[in-house]
Formats: sequence, structure tokens, C-alpha cells
Amino acid sequence: MDQPTFAMISCAVGAESAVKESVLQDGWRLAFSRPGFVTLKHEQSKEPPRGTFIRTSSRSIGSAKASSFSNLAELLIEKLSEQFDSSPPFNQLHVWPKDRAPIGRFGFEPGPDEVSNAISAEIFPRLAKKWLTCDLPNRIAESGDRVLDLVLVEPSHWFFGWHQAGDWHTRWPGGVQPITLHQEPVSRAYYKAAESITWSGFPIRRGQTAVEIGSSPGGACGRLLELGLKVIGIDPAEMDPSIAEHPQFKHIRARAGDLPRKTFRGAKWLLVDSNVAPEKTLTTIRNIVMHRDCTLEGLLVTLKIGNYTASQKISSWEQEIDSWNPSRVRVRQLSRNKVEVCFAIEFDR
Ligand SMILES: C[S@@+](CC[C@H](N)C(=O)[O-])C[C@H]1O[C@@H](n2cnc3c(N)ncnc32)[C@H](O)[C@@H]1O
Repeated sequence: MDQPTFAMISCAVGAESAVKESVLQDGWRLAFSRPGFVTLKHEQSKEPPRGTFIRTSSRSIGSAKASSFSNLAELLIEKLSEQFDSSPPFNQLHVWPKDRAPIGRFGFEPGPDEVSNAISAEIFPRLAKKWLTCDLPNRIAESGDRVLDLVLVEPSHWFFGWHQAGDWHTRWPGGVQPITLHQEPVSRAYYKAAESITWSGFPIRRGQTAVEIGSSPGGACGRLLELGLKVIGIDPAEMDPSIAEHPQFKHIRARAGDLPRKTFRGAKWLLVDSNVAPEKTLTTIRNIVMHRDCTLEGLLVTLKIGNYTASQKISSWEQEIDSWNPSRVRVRQLSRNKVEVCFAIEFDR
């Protein structure tokens, strides 16, 4: 007889309905949920679900609600002891809070915070020898690592689970890329660009040329310049002087659709982050990538959904993108995306 599977999912606040809709047809049933956090049950043994709006997905081990840290820790250890006998069964410990607010609202950014860091520092020594092989919590996991996940729905209400790390976003604590800044970014689009570049796995190298459509004020261009690329920013609006004056940067002050195709000649990578209706953006990109001289190998395209009830638009965008004959297309709501998704589109050239 198959054992049932319990799964726990983190997502952006507001994306829960899109997450639920995407898993129901696979036979998952809904259990406890809160904004930014969804739990599910399947009658059969199954891999926890993945999908566009699913930021993290773990097999659930259980939950604990208590007013003291010691009680919570005991309940966690009790659950681990019930379910795992070969020790230490986990390579990493990831601890993060569920999102408190929609991304960007009141400046909210997802991922481990002060409280979850304090809890991870306290729980780590209690778990270390018997349950973990890592030297510290919230390390970036290696692909293949078994990760013990602890989600703080509240500081006094914990959900525990585990997952096996694979793709980049499954290696980061809470699915949020940890970034060490060299300097304050020009805009939060810096984080979005960094995450999309790493997630895509595109073989981006120093000296290559990247173009960004919708480049002002320049957060994403800042990341591309840091990576040693030559960057062309297309935007009718002004660039931040720190980007505009960079020797490897060229600003074309125009709307992307008005430019001749030769603007993109020799470029390998295209980022698109313009606040234009997605259908219009896709027409502009189609005209660029379908041109016979196009040298682009990878596109990272941010498209605004507007609201989560319109998430079915994504499949019509996918159909349009497929008609360009790409070799691979992936779509995901990045952890730093507001109500928008990122397409990673690859071409064999
Ligand atoms: C979300 S902001 C871009 C943020 C930017 N990527 C960064 O890293 O700071 C959107 C930008 O799209 C630009 N935009 C709007 N329509 C455009 C078009 N047709 N072509 C190029 N840029 C456009 C706007 O001027 C605005 O600066």
C-alpha cells in the first residue's frame, strides 16, 4: 500500500490560489494554509509538487506550536526521531519565515530574517551531531544534498520538512538567493537580475554583450556590469549616473520597438524588464529574435501578470514564445518578482 505524502510549499503572498490551482489536478488535497504558505496531502507516495509559483516545496514531517523555544525544539526532535533512524540524515538545515507581505510592499523582501536567523542559530547546535552534517545553518546546498527545512509560519508556529536540492532555487534557503553586496544597488531589479541569471544557468561570460530593454535606472545593468559584460541599456528614461558613466555601458535612449535590428547585432544575452503590456513586449521581442541576423542565445524576460487570477495568461505567452522556435523555455515567479514571472528562453545558434 502506498503511503500518503504531505507537502509544504512557500510562495509569494497572494500566489496561494495560483499554487493550489496548479496542484489540484494532480490529486493533491488542500490542508493548512496561510498567506505565503500552503500545505497539501496526497493519498499516494509522490514527489512534492513544483510549479511556476512554488518557491519552495518540501516533504512535510510535521508542525509544532508552542510558546517556548525549548518546547518547539523538543517537538521537532520528536518528529525527526519518529521518522528517521539512519543518522545524520540531512546535509543542510534551512530556516526561513513565510513571507509577511507581498513582495516589495512596505519594502518587504523575502528570505531569512533577523528572527529566523536567531532561531536557526539556537536550533542548529541541538540538531547538529545527530541530524546534520553541515557546519552552519542556511548554507547554500549542493545539488543532491538532503535539506532539513524549517518554516516559521510564526516564530511560535513551525513547520518542518525536507527536500533534496537540485536546481539552483532549491539550493538556496527559502528559495531566495543569498547575495553579498559590494555596494548598494541602484534599484531592487539588481536582485531580480542576479537571481534570474543564476537560476537560468546561462553560460554568461566576461566580455560578452548583453542588452537590457527597460534598463532605467540601472539595477540589472549594474549586475551585468559586475559580471564583466558589455551592456547596452535601452530605455527612454535616464540611467543612474553610476551606470551611465561606466566605460562598458552604452545607453540608447529610445523605446525598444522603434530601434533598427542592428542594435542587437553581436549581443548574446537579452534582459527585458519594461513596464509595457506583456503582449506588446512579446511582439517587440519576436521582431528581434526572428530576424535572420539575430545572435541572441538567451533571454530573461520579466512579464507582469497584473494579478494572480490572470495567471492563465502565462500559457498563451508560452505559446507565443514557442512559435519563435526556442530550444528551451522555462518560466518561474522568482523570489524577487512582484506579481510577475520570469521566462528563461534559450536558442541554439
Ligand atoms: C521596472 S523599470 C526597469 C528597472 C530596470 N530594469 C532596473 O534594473 O533598474 C521599467 C522601465 O521600462 C521602461 N520602458 C517602458 N517602455 C519601454 C520601451 N518601449 N522600451 C524600453 N524601455 C521601456 C521605463 O522607462 C522604465 O524605466
